[in-house]
Amino acid sequence: MSVLTIARDGAIATVTVDNPPVNALSQALRQGLWDAVATLDADPEIRAVVLICAGRTFIAGADVTEFGKPPQEPHLPDLVDRIEDAQKPWIAAIHGSALGGGFEVAMGCRFRVALDSASVGLPEVTLGIVPGASGTVRTPRLAGVEAAVDLVTSGKPVRAAKALSLGLIDAVFADDLHTNALAFAREALTRDLPPPVSLRPITAPNAAFWEDRRKTVTKAAKGAEAPLRALDCLRKAAEAPFAEAMAYERQTFLDLRGSDQAAALRHVFFAERAAPRPAHLRDVGPLPLRRAGVIGGGTMGAGIAAALRDAGIPVTLIERDDEALARGTATLRAIFDGAVKRGKLTDAQADGRMAGVAATTDYAALSDADLVIEAVFEDIAVKRAVLDQLAAVCRPDAVLATNTSYLDPRLIAEGLPNPGRFIGLHFFSPANVMRLLEIVPVPETAPQTLASGFALARMLNKIPVQSGICEGFIGNRILKRYRAGAEALLRQGVPIADIDAAMRGYGFAMGPFEAQDLGGLDIAFLQREGARAAGRDVPETLGDILVRAGRKGQKTGGGWYDYAPGDRRPQPSTAVSDLLAGRITGAVQMDHDAIARHLVAEMAAEGRAILDEGIAARASDIDLVEIHGYGFPRWRGGPMFATGRQG
Ligand code: 3HC
Ligand code: NAI
Repeated sequence: MSVLTIARDGAIATVTVDNPPVNALSQALRQGLWDAVATLDADPEIRAVVLICAGRTFIAGADVTEFGKPPQEPHLPDLVDRIEDAQKPWIAAIHGSALGGGFEVAMGCRFRVALDSASVGLPEVTLGIVPGASGTVRTPRLAGVEAAVDLVTSGKPVRAAKALSLGLIDAVFADDLHTNALAFAREALTRDLPPPVSLRPITAPNAAFWEDRRKTVTKAAKGAEAPLRALDCLRKAAEAPFAEAMAYERQTFLDLRGSDQAAALRHVFFAERAAPRPAHLRDVGPLPLRRAGVIGGGTMGAGIAAALRDAGIPVTLIERDDEALARGTATLRAIFDGAVKRGKLTDAQADGRMAGVAATTDYAALSDADLVIEAVFEDIAVKRAVLDQLAAVCRPDAVLATNTSYLDPRLIAEGLPNPGRFIGLHFFSPANVMRLLEIVPVPETAPQTLASGFALARMLNKIPVQSGICEGFIGNRILKRYRAGAEALLRQGVPIADIDAAMRGYGFAMGPFEAQDLGGLDIAFLQREGARAAGRDVPETLGDILVRAGRKGQKTGGGWYDYAPGDRRPQPSTAVSDLLAGRITGAVQMDHDAIARHLVAEMAAEGRAILDEGIAARASDIDLVEIHGYGFPRWRGGPMFATGRQG
C-alpha cells in the first residue's frame, strides 16, 4: 500500500499521507514525499500543495524504530529543504500532533495551518536526542530564540492557540481542516508569499541569556544530556549562518542517537506503550467505570479521590465517622487548592472538582457505584470488615479494589461473594500525581475486572503494571532490597552521606536514607514488627534501632540525619553514629560510582527474582515501576535496562 496519495482540485494539489499508526517518517514515506515534490513541481497546472494526513494524527515524527539502524536516504533534513525549495508553496494542514520530524516537515512548508485541537512540538530531548532536521535552526526563526529554547529543551508540545500566538503556525480552524486549508491556499496565492523559514532573520540574545538558560536547563534536565546539547544547537542557530547551524545540529543528532541515554529513553518509550495493552487482555472489554467510591479519606484515599475527579469521575467518599469525614474532605479540598495556587486549576475548576464529591459515612450511598477502592488502615481486620459492608450494599458486578501495600489481597478477598470482581489497585503517594498503578489480580479476578483496572489507568493517565502477589508486590519488594543493600554498605563502613550522594549523582532526587527521613521510618518499622508479631523471622535492621530510639525521620526532628527546626536540610548526626557504633564492622572505601552501581545491581537482582517467580511479566514493566513509582532516572532506562538484565 502506498504511504501517500496525490489528488488535484484545480490549481491546488493535496498530498495525503497515510502511514499508520502515527504517520511516522519511515524511509518509504520520506521517499514518497521526495518524489511528490518532483511530481508536483513538474505539473504546470498546480500552483500550491496542501500536505495533510489520514488517521489519528499529522506526522508524529521520525520513525523511532529506525534509530538503531544506519540512516537511509533520503535523509530527513534534505527532505525538509527540498519541500522548502519546491517551486510551489506547500501548506501543512495539521490535526492531532505534529511532533519532531513531523513539525520539521511542517516548518519546511511555506505555511502551517491547524485544527484548534492540534498540538505541535519537538519532543526529541525526551528520546535522548536533539531535533535532527532543522528543529533547532528553523524554530527560532519562526518563534524567536526565547520561545524556541523553551520548546526544544523541554520537549513539551504546545496547543494550536499557543502555537499561533508564538508564530509557529499561521491559522487555526475549528473544523473541516481540508476545506479550510484549500481555501487558505487559494487566498495565499493572491498575495506575495512570505520568505521560506530558513531565510527569515534571527535576533541573537547576549551571553548572559545563554548563561542563565544553561543554569535553568541543567537543573530541569536532572542529569539528562540532550536538553543541554539542544541548548548548544540553539545558540549555534542564533549566532552562526543557517548552513553552519544545520551541520552542527546534524552532528549533535548523530552523536546522541547512538548514546546510552538515547537507547535507555527509547526503551522507556516503547515500554510505556507496551504496558497498558497486555496481550492476554486483547479481546477482553472493560466494565463501564462511570461512578466510583473511595473508602477512607486519609493520605491515599484523598489522593485517589482527587485522581478520579481529575478524570471527571464522580466520587462518593466514605469515612468511619463525621470527624474523619471532615478531615478527609478538607484534605481533598487542600489538594485542589494547591493546584489552584500552582496555576494548574482555576477556582471554578477546583469548585467543580469538589462538587463531584459526595462525602458521607453511609455505605448505602455506594449502591450505584461501578468501582469502589478501599484505602483504609493497613489492617486485615479493618479491611475485611469494609469489604463485608461493600458486599452488602454494592451491585454484584461492581469492581471492588484494595489499595493495600503489603497485605495479601487473597486474604482481604476471602469470603467475598462474587470474588471475580475483586482486584488490587496499588496507587503511589501522592496518588493524584504519581503515574504508576500496580494492578494486582487475585486468582479469582475475572478477566473483565482486570481489563477494567487497565481501563481505569488509561482514564487516570497512569502507567499500569500488572503484578503477581508477593510481599510488597513489585515496587516495594525492590525498595526493601535497595534499602537493605544501603544498610549493608553502611554496616561495612560506607558513610550514610556518601551513599545518599552517590544515588543523587546517579540521578535520583534523593538517596535512600534522606528519602526515608522524608517519608518516615516508622511505616516500614511497623510492617516489620507486624511480621515479627505474626511469628515470622524478620532480622533487626539499623532502621529499627533508630525508630526504637524515637528517630522516625524529619517529623521527629531526626532520623538518619538531624534536622534543625523548620529546616529540611539533612545534617550528619552524632546521635546516629553513637546508636549504630557497634554495628558498623568494616572500613570499606567505595567511590560514588561503585556505590550506585552496587545498589542498582541489588535492585536488578531482586527484579530478576521477581521475573523468575512470574510476579512481573516483563523486565520492562519492572523498569516502569522504578521510573514512575520510585524516582529512578528515566534516562538510565530503569534497573533492568541499566544492568542489561532484561532476559
Ligand atoms: N516512531 C515509530 N512508532 C511510533 C512513533 C514514532 N515516532 N510514535 C508512536 N509510535 C507507535 C507506538 O509505538 C505505538 O505502537 P503500537 O501500537 O505498536 O504499540 C503506536 O505508534 C501508537 O502510539 P501511541 O500509543 O503513543 O498513540 P497515541 O495516539 O496515544 O499518541 C502520539 C500519538 C502523540 C503521536 C504519540 O505516539 C507520540 O508522542 N509519539 C512520539 C512522537 C515523538 O517523539 N516524535 C519525535 C520522534 S524523534 C524525531 O522526530 C527526530 C527528528 O528530529 C529527526
Ligand atoms: P491513613 O491512615 O492516612 O488513612 C486511612 C483512612 O482510613 C483514615 O482517614 C481512616 O479514618 C479511614 N478509615 C479507617 N477505617 C475505616 C473504615 N472502617 N471505614 C471508612 N474509613 C476508614 O492511611 P494511608 O496512608 O492513606 O493508607 C491507606 C491504605 O493505603 C493502606 O492500606 C496503605 O497500606 C495503603 N497505601 C499507602 C501508601 C502511602 O504512601 N501512605 C502508598 C500506597 C498504599
